[in-house]
Amino acid sequence: MKILIVNGPNLNALGQREKDIYGTDTLEDLENQCISYGASNGIEVLVYQSNIEGEIINYLYKMKDIVNYIIINPGALTHYGYSLRDCISAIENDVLEVHLSNIDNREEFRKTSVITPVACGKISGLGKEGYILAINYFILKNEK
Ligand code: DQA
Repeated sequence: MKILIVNGPNLNALGQREKDIYGTDTLEDLENQCISYGASNGIEVLVYQSNIEGEIINYLYKMKDIVNYIIINPGALTHYGYSLRDCISAIENDVLEVHLSNIDNREEFRKTSVITPVACGKISGLGKEGYILAINYFILKNEK
């Protein structure tokens, strides 16, 4: 089984950026933890990050038939990324939305996600553990 984890704009700056909100782990730390967790459960975790919506969209089209499941933290594209939303709808993969912070108890603009309606679910506010939970969800789903 292959799971793709996609991180959107500004998640490259994890570890430097608003540490009180997003924690001190770098993106590389987070990705390595997900890859190791996957490996210890016999699954391949692939990782991708871009600050550019179109690049993420091109990558999702490229990978849609290669991976079984997709976990995405769209960063701020969550709140206005209609092209990304349409792509997620078009590819018809199971895509789980993850946020490090709880987007429902921050600024008003973060309470709207244009991605949630086309995602199979959302994990928000559980920090990096949210990514591990998302991997676990797909492991359980795959066993059914
Ligand atoms: C985020 C929340 C978004 O509102 C923000 O723009 C991000 C990160 C999160 O993981 O909590 O870049 O997706």
